[in-house]
Amino acid sequence: MTTDVSKLPRLAYTKLYINPVSTAGASRKGEKSTEYFVGVNSILVDRKPIRINSTLLSINNRGFGGVKISTVSPYTVLESSIYSTLVKAFDEAFFGGWNESRVMPVKPFKDCYTATVRTPLGVAVPDLAFVFEDNVKWDIYGANSMVEISRDVHCLGFLDGGSNPRTSVVIGAHQLEDNLLQFDLAANKLAFTETLLWEGIECSNFKF
Ligand SMILES: *[C@@H]1O[C@H](CO)[C@@H](O)[C@H](O)[C@H]1NC(C)=O
Ligand SMILES: *[C@@H]1O[C@H](CO)[C@@H](O)[C@H](O)[C@H]1NC(C)=O
Repeated sequence: MTTDVSKLPRLAYTKLYINPVSTAGASRKGEKSTEYFVGVNSILVDRKPIRINSTLLSINNRGFGGVKISTVSPYTVLESSIYSTLVKAFDEAFFGGWNESRVMPVKPFKDCYTATVRTPLGVAVPDLAFVFEDNVKWDIYGANSMVEISRDVHCLGFLDGGSNPRTSVVIGAHQLEDNLLQFDLAANKLAFTETLLWEGIECSNFKF
């Protein structure tokens, strides 16, 4: 089966930003970053915004903070306070309604669970979402939020980036898998779809 991805209906857009101070390892001081920053207004767990310090979500004049997309990072890395708030909300939603429990963590993850109910969008867990500017939402389901360790053990695929990271949120490759992203640099725009698993298609049968 092939699918003409350009005809998929759920393409959404958000603005791309350039960090005025490069965050790339090998850059010279004062050189502009060529990485892809996006504006995130809130993060949802189980459709509810979590309480985070919103200052962390914007880039300050020294180039610290903000949210970037990096396929170099295997998993999404969150500043410590964002990480712990997200995990707490996730646990409350998960244990409240789902009768699941935590199990011994498996490195590099700290939050691993028995999670046994499978759906076409991955193992059943509370939904996460990034809300971009203009209320454009990017939902993240089990296939992208969780990493399968064994049949019954899944770990939350987010990492704690410590308390003063250069960039507060680095959205990594696992969360982007089977989502279609188009970086339109001329227009400073990111076009994306939420998981293509909705259509029963995966990266292997795309036709561009
Ligand atoms: C929010 O984060 C900024 C940037 O790290 C920090 O300067 C500020 O003190 C924080 N505010 C609160 C209430 O924690
Ligand atoms: C929750 O899990 C416990 C222990 O596995 C089980 O005894 C109980 O029946 C479960 N409750 C529901 C509502 O599934």
